[in-house]
Amino acid sequence: MSVHSMIVLLLLVTLCAHGGKGEESAGAPRSGHVSVVIVGGTGDLAKKYLWQGFFELYVHQVGSGNTFSFYGGGLSPADAATPALFEILKAVSCSKDASEERCALLKEQFLRLARYRQLKTLEDYQALAEHIGRELQQEGITEAGRLFYLSLPAFAYVDVADKINRSCRPTGGPWLRVVLEKPFGHDIRSAEVLATQLEGSLKDEEMYRIDHYLGKQVVAKILPFRVENKKFLDPIWNKHHIERVEIVMKETLDVKGRISFYDQYGVIRDVLQNHLTEVMTLLMMRLPTNLSSSEEILQRKLQIFSSMLPLRKNQAVVGQYQAYQTTVQQETNKTKDHVSRTPTYAAVLAHIDEAQYEGVPILLISGKMLDERVGYARILFKNDVFCLQSRDGVHCKPKQIVFYFGHGSLQYPAVLVSKNLFRPVVTDSEWTEVTEHTDVNILGLPISDYYVQTPTEQKEAYSELISQIFAGCKNNFISTENLLASWGLWTPLLNSLAGTYPRIYPGGGDNRDLLDIRVNGKDVGYTREVVIISPEQMGATSANSFQVMQGNFRRADMVSAWPEELVERLAADIQKEAEAAVREGNVFHLAISGGSTPLALFHRLALHHFSFPWSHTHVWMVDERCVPLTEPESNFRGLHDHLLQHVRIPYFNIHPMPVQLNQRLCVEEDRGAALYEKEISGMVHGSSFHFVLLGVGYDGHTASLFPGGKADEVGEGLVALTESPLKPHQRMSLTFSAINRARTVALLVMGKGKHELISQLSRVSDKPDKWPVTGVKPADGRLVWYIDYDALLG
Ligand code: BG6
Repeated sequence: MSVHSMIVLLLLVTLCAHGGKGEESAGAPRSGHVSVVIVGGTGDLAKKYLWQGFFELYVHQVGSGNTFSFYGGGLSPADAATPALFEILKAVSCSKDASEERCALLKEQFLRLARYRQLKTLEDYQALAEHIGRELQQEGITEAGRLFYLSLPAFAYVDVADKINRSCRPTGGPWLRVVLEKPFGHDIRSAEVLATQLEGSLKDEEMYRIDHYLGKQVVAKILPFRVENKKFLDPIWNKHHIERVEIVMKETLDVKGRISFYDQYGVIRDVLQNHLTEVMTLLMMRLPTNLSSSEEILQRKLQIFSSMLPLRKNQAVVGQYQAYQTTVQQETNKTKDHVSRTPTYAAVLAHIDEAQYEGVPILLISGKMLDERVGYARILFKNDVFCLQSRDGVHCKPKQIVFYFGHGSLQYPAVLVSKNLFRPVVTDSEWTEVTEHTDVNILGLPISDYYVQTPTEQKEAYSELISQIFAGCKNNFISTENLLASWGLWTPLLNSLAGTYPRIYPGGGDNRDLLDIRVNGKDVGYTREVVIISPEQMGATSANSFQVMQGNFRRADMVSAWPEELVERLAADIQKEAEAAVREGNVFHLAISGGSTPLALFHRLALHHFSFPWSHTHVWMVDERCVPLTEPESNFRGLHDHLLQHVRIPYFNIHPMPVQLNQRLCVEEDRGAALYEKEISGMVHGSSFHFVLLGVGYDGHTASLFPGGKADEVGEGLVALTESPLKPHQRMSLTFSAINRARTVALLVMGKGKHELISQLSRVSDKPDKWPVTGVKPADGRLVWYIDYDALLG
């Protein structure tokens, strides 16, 4: 980037950030009179941040040619609410550099311009509009625009937006801007409904959806920082250098007083879906060429959303602070036995499916009732230096960039770059380098090991955003597309977590390591297992119930254990067989089923069995759904994502089932089953797999051999097209004939849900047409059941 373009860029950023001309008001900004209406003007948010923000706007605009009226609106009649409003207004404060006299004068003027208005009915809004019109006429001034700030519960938005549209729209040129606070829906569907309803009253450019994190100085600095330091960051902003990204917002407070809202939302909807997601997109998006273009920034953000890998259930852990239930009972009319599963803590692991960030873990974490209040985004880089003796040397320490939003031990917002990375440039006059430090440690490094930048003047997020709304700068607001893309990412995870019980934590320092998490491949879990069932409670089994137990089931061998131990044992058994086969014939033929049960096994193999002879292993499919292999439903896709892509297996050794031929799926004439059979006969000695891994469905099916299946499934052929009662109906499957030629067949059954099935199977005789799994009887090989304690004992 040339120096000239850099200056232009910074100028644009500065203009947008400090209430100058925004791109939406291109050309000369229309100066004149501005009416500001805070609907909900005596509420909490207005009291804490909004009036202060509008006061600062007013102060900045004195002498600019703009004049103002301020209205605090509410449902109460004016005589009741006016005193409360004035109490709030009197509390606004001036910046440090204003003299006492000037401050008093400014406050007095501000107070004179403000008044309360009851805004309940359409007539109230009409009366307000008439009042504004009258004042403009009396004063003989032109109107610049009308700004409505809806500081209201979300259910009121549509109605109020409609009233504004019907009665308060300025005519003939002045702008209308309507500001909305989250929540913007509850999931993708409700967000779509709300967006459509609002579109009936307001144009997209008139709506300013606030995410106050985008007004935080450090968050707003992320993109400019990335641009200013592009030459240092470009070579390292990728998977080869980034170890992980952490976006964290910890709070010490509980949610007392907010339960009626909070209990319906929880921490993922309250914080992760919006604040933390926005920060993530700013960190990961491709840099826009023009930082002032809200359209370009939006497109870059949307690109990130479209490359996010879907968030699955095992990419999240949730918790709830212990006292939460009591507060729910106190603040709602719920009975004593009502149990809320709303999470107050969540840690989510995300990944971006782009070559630049492939495999880089992105953690989004937030919670109430934690040990400290702090917010930051940390980019931790890999450090390939080995320090033999000089462990205190700067090159031995963590390499990281921390965008420190505020609070915590540092107490001021800052961007910190560890000194073993680079010295960041400071080109923005509103930022300065801090060189005098108190003795404080930030994320594992003493502050003196960082280059630290901080804003010259600290500003409240709301004040920043209010001045941007006034300037018509939209890059720090949430557009409809952005909102829906974010809900599109979060809704499936929220749905899959709906039945999950959060881990209960005591709160504060007592949480100790209870909420610590570990990234395990693509999954995340708590580091500390909480054992809920004691061995005694388990009843019937051996004294030490955590051990693996061996026995018999349906006249075959059975191994049983807790899920983790069971999977560990099965993985070890497969490796043993693989090594024996490779010793004997230099090749191991493994046929694997689909479904969710084997996923834990795949992870175990990928993460613990580094000496597995993959280069001599051929992987075959036991069955496949008739969908393209790239679909999430495809068994091969599951196998690929959870195992194959993590191990070093030659491509030639992988044998997906040919369900898609001639651009169509599982058509008899395409003879896919015969093709696979030919491949097996050609490569596998005697068509006898060394190891076949099977599961059992609730209806007793195994592979894709279902109750009441067709004759060719039990005939001589090795592979058949079959029908499933479940979608997708069409399947391709190994037949009994193929399965029963195997040397070893393992039947893996896990989970409480399979207990009933196991009880039934223990009683029924061999009836493959009714209970297909009973048709699994290796002719010369061995059958072993692997059943976890949940399935075995319920
Ligand atoms: C709000 C959430 O959006 O952000 C609150 O609704 C949360 O639950 C707050 O406490 C945190 O904001 P900040 O600026 O204090 O980090």
